[in-house]
Amino acid sequence: MQILKLGGSVITHKDEYFSPHTENIKRLAQEISATKKPLIIVHGAGSFGHPVAKKYNISDGLKTSEQLVGFSETHQSMTRLNQIIVDTLLEAGVPAFGISASSMLVTKNRRLVDIDMSIIKGCLKLGLVPVMYGDAVLDTEQGFAILSGDQLIVRLAIDLEAERIIFGSDVDGIYTANPKLDPNAKLIELVSLSHITAEVGGATNTDVTGGMLGKLKEAEEAVEAGAEVVFLNANAENRVKTALLGEKVMGTLLTL
Ligand code: IPE
Repeated sequence: MQILKLGGSVITHKDEYFSPHTENIKRLAQEISATKKPLIIVHGAGSFGHPVAKKYNISDGLKTSEQLVGFSETHQSMTRLNQIIVDTLLEAGVPAFGISASSMLVTKNRRLVDIDMSIIKGCLKLGLVPVMYGDAVLDTEQGFAILSGDQLIVRLAIDLEAERIIFGSDVDGIYTANPKLDPNAKLIELVSLSHITAEVGGATNTDVTGGMLGKLKEAEEAVEAGAEVVFLNANAENRVKTALLGEKVMGTLLTL
């Protein structure tokens, strides 16, 4: 089983509110249709979830009743994006099935605790491709929270013993610094968990869930559980396809 993360910077225009990157979504749907292996797709928020979550300060939890509308609006914006992605995958012949994280899990102080895997397992058994996303979720301590797609993926990978996790973003992989800000930033092709000495550049824009460094930290646990973790540029043609087919691809491979 493989898990593919489509970052918000790939599937949306990050600088324009609620703007799907239709061209990328269509191309990626075609690339994904090349694999018939069991797959879960988790997509990010980009210009859908993040600005709404930030406006109402959803990640810090419930403080005033006015935030309730914002909590639901954040989730709604994500279901809209999910619908666009699922519809496009269906057009490409991928048996995609949208599932919201908020309906099957809760967090405790922003960390995922209880998750009911039965629906996902059932979908995979049938041959469906579950399409999940970072979501506005209930939290047992702070009322509600934002669960990043990255945190969700790692938990899915561990519980379902995923063979490979592919993190598709808008950069070629993990760099020694933020490649968008530092011209001397170098791509690291292989990072070993025991040797993470490089300073990893954070993402720009309105990211409420942590950027590249956050992704790397989240991924550690999945690597420890035996998954191969690849970071690659999903904006570049055929990289997602190549990785899904298990072939060597430009990017960063995270190992033990
Ligand atoms: C964030 O998900 C979810 C919300 C803000 C509701 P991610 O953290 O996985 O999204 P991206 O990939 O950074 O956009």
